[in-house]
Amino acid sequence: TEDIYVLGIETSCDETAASVVKNGKEIISNVVASQIESHKRFGGVVPEIASRHHVEQITLVIEEALTQAGMAPNELDAVAVTEGPGLVGALLVGVNAAKAFAFAHQLPLVGVHHIAGHIYANRLEQEMEFPLLALVISGGHTELVLMKEHGDFDVIGETRDDAAGEAYDKVARTLNLPYPGGPHIDRLAHESDGAIEFPRVWLEEGSYDFSFSGLKSSVLNYLHNAAQRGEEIPPEHIAAGFQNSVVEVVTAKAVRAAAQYKVRQVIAAGGVAANKGLRTSLTAAFDEKGIPFYIPPLALCTDNAAMIAAAGTVMFEKGIRGTMAMNGRPGMEL
Ligand code: KG4
Ligand code: ZN
Repeated sequence: TEDIYVLGIETSCDETAASVVKNGKEIISNVVASQIESHKRFGGVVPEIASRHHVEQITLVIEEALTQAGMAPNELDAVAVTEGPGLVGALLVGVNAAKAFAFAHQLPLVGVHHIAGHIYANRLEQEMEFPLLALVISGGHTELVLMKEHGDFDVIGETRDDAAGEAYDKVARTLNLPYPGGPHIDRLAHESDGAIEFPRVWLEEGSYDFSFSGLKSSVLNYLHNAAQRGEEIPPEHIAAGFQNSVVEVVTAKAVRAAAQYKVRQVIAAGGVAANKGLRTSLTAAFDEKGIPFYIPPLALCTDNAAMIAAAGTVMFEKGIRGTMAMNGRPGMEL
């Protein structure tokens, strides 16, 4: 059979990215233009600034992905683009670029769900085995997704309020750490020898859902009360206490779900999957259960277009096609 080359495009948040992937599993090129520096001073992603940067970068980034791949557009088989969820103005830049490219070069267009992309980042490293459990944990998402086959996603648990990464970033902000705060909390947590105890939020018995806003409030209250007493709490003890709570709950729920659904593989995805504490805890827990567990390398955990091309290839092979009427879908469901 013929090899399949797909151009992936991702602009759902603050990275402008394009990539060429072969057969859904081999990265030929992978270009990411990050805007983090422009959003840093605002302490978060500013949608209007994100859209403008995407507009400035998208053509260059796509050209660079083709140049690095040493390929001409007519050697491609399809164009895959993040259709949603994400910031509507940001999504539209990628979708319109993809439509223009597909139209100009007479290529099929495939709209990809951003989370499907995060999950398929793993396929760039090793073959997926089903049933598979994916822990998607990022700035916008915290979900446990069960997959029985390629392209089939069943969300068995999700956050009822903040995403884990969002909670990390908010706690980091109260500790006066730079944006994005997740990596800073992670680093601080490892320097603590006196973690503060914060509550674990389990929700109803048997639930695979998450809630992180109560934990975030506990941290804020704790700091507020300490300040009123005139007490200085070392930030690393706060960071460690917060991280312990997140890691314990996420690990326990992932392990229980993996056992209940008798999965053959567990994968982690999304920016928070880069967390050292979480990686160590999940690795040890699944090791003990004898269930194969993988986390993609850091650069594939955070937003990129190779993951969109990888997920898009599976959809392309299933015959799924987008049309020139495609739009960004900010609230798109998996
Ligand atoms: O997947 P991602 O790049 O973008 C989204 O789709 O959300 O994830 C970004 C999130 C941010 O909230 C960031 O603070 C968090 O991932 N993050 C971390 C770590 N590295 C990135 N959170 C905890 N520990 C880390 N080491
Ligand atoms: Zn993401």
